[in-house]
Amino acid sequence: MKVNNPTLILILLGATLACNPSEESVDQQSRFDEPFRPQYHFTPPAQWMNDPNGMVYYEGEYHLFYQHYPDSNVWGPMHWGHAVSEDLIHWEHLPIAIEPDSLGWIFSGSAVYDADNSSGLGTKDKPPLVAIYTYHDPVGAEAKRDDFQTQGIAYSTDNGRNWLKYEGNPILENPGIRDFRDPKVIWVDDKWIMSLAVKDRISFYSSENLLEWEHESDFQPDWAAYGGVWECPDLFPLKTSTGEEKWVLFVSINPGGPNGGSATQYFVGDFDGVSFTTETNEVKWLDYGADNYAGVTWSNIPEEDGRRLFIGWMSNWAYANVVPTENWRSANTLPRELTLNQRKGDYLVASSPVRELEKLRENAQEMEGSEWEIESELVELILRPEQGDFSVEIGNEKGEKVVFRKNGEELSFDRSQSGITGFSNVFGNLHTAPLEGLEVEQLRIFLDRSSIEIFVNNGELVLTEIIFPESPYSQIKLVGFRDRSTVHELRGIW
Ligand code: FRU
Repeated sequence: MKVNNPTLILILLGATLACNPSEESVDQQSRFDEPFRPQYHFTPPAQWMNDPNGMVYYEGEYHLFYQHYPDSNVWGPMHWGHAVSEDLIHWEHLPIAIEPDSLGWIFSGSAVYDADNSSGLGTKDKPPLVAIYTYHDPVGAEAKRDDFQTQGIAYSTDNGRNWLKYEGNPILENPGIRDFRDPKVIWVDDKWIMSLAVKDRISFYSSENLLEWEHESDFQPDWAAYGGVWECPDLFPLKTSTGEEKWVLFVSINPGGPNGGSATQYFVGDFDGVSFTTETNEVKWLDYGADNYAGVTWSNIPEEDGRRLFIGWMSNWAYANVVPTENWRSANTLPRELTLNQRKGDYLVASSPVRELEKLRENAQEMEGSEWEIESELVELILRPEQGDFSVEIGNEKGEKVVFRKNGEELSFDRSQSGITGFSNVFGNLHTAPLEGLEVEQLRIFLDRSSIEIFVNNGELVLTEIIFPESPYSQIKLVGFRDRSTVHELRGIW
């Protein structure tokens, strides 16, 4: 809220002081129930959010940090907002974890558990959590210098509740490249490896102590997608169902996505501790919807769990700053488990909602016929198409709707009449996804007020899309489906 009138400030201050805690929590509750606010997706308590950052699991808690500007609902000086969850579904908002300082704003990055205290920033008894992020110096950027992005670290020895900046920051100076950011750090064999987005390539660095880094190699195949700047890399191993291990590299790009604006491409190959190589030469997209960007995976997931867990930012730089929400802007995707499939000699990453989400199912209804009414705004639909083309129309009594279709070898998603669309001249564009021989056997569709996520089969193809209907969607029309579809109503998480 921007207030310039001093009398008004005093009145507002008085009103705030008069507020007792129970009134505040009522306020908090109504804020989480405002128009378009997703009910089972993560959103910040207020104001602007973009990329998820620093996701790390530690002592029973999944930490989630995020790019956050606490003073406005548009992008600005970045902080790391913070929340924790015991189940990936219900989140507790915590105070801002990392604030800008004289070296700059706090851009995206990652966090690791430094179990052996290799950094010396904790003790043997209480090793630290270490966050590695980009400093973006707004003064250097304004002056059109090239070296205004550097890497810094902060650490916590109290389960992520308080973060101290390392005195020796920055830990990685800028060699004179404007886009030099988003460090994602993992432990490989006997050293730390950092993947860093450097304009139009990914640079890999290694370190023994998280403080001193050495450049190892660059990845920049000539056939990759280069429609925009490369951002937010993530490098991790993933096994196929037969136990073969491959390395996956995520690279978000903005713009240049398959359906316009920002999106995440990925590569499957090998990493030998120095360089990443891949034998394929086709661009692969993690999600064909317009609204899954800058997603990365959690670190330090216990071996007995063994999953590779992902969350993305559910928006698109093409319109993120102008979507019609006021008090808060942007949600995250559903948390997803990544798996590696082999199809036609190729390795493909599938992403499906984490199993913990099933806890939100309130009741299941078997539906017959091709037209139904749904009563809840929060649902999961499970649909089984017949062979051949199909369409799913989901809308309201005002005629606002989205249409998801299979037409031959292509899927399409039309949100041109989905509700409020006029804030952007690209929001209503038709989105398409090639099936490339994939048989559509099952659809899982999640609706949450202002988002739709469609998982084909077990997430072999995914579309994540946001929408702004003026009244809740309640009508579903199906063409080309078998009977016995299932509708689960879902509980909200706040
Ligand atoms: C991706 C991104 C990152 C950067 C951050 C700034 O959406 O542009 O490259 O670190 O957002 O908020």
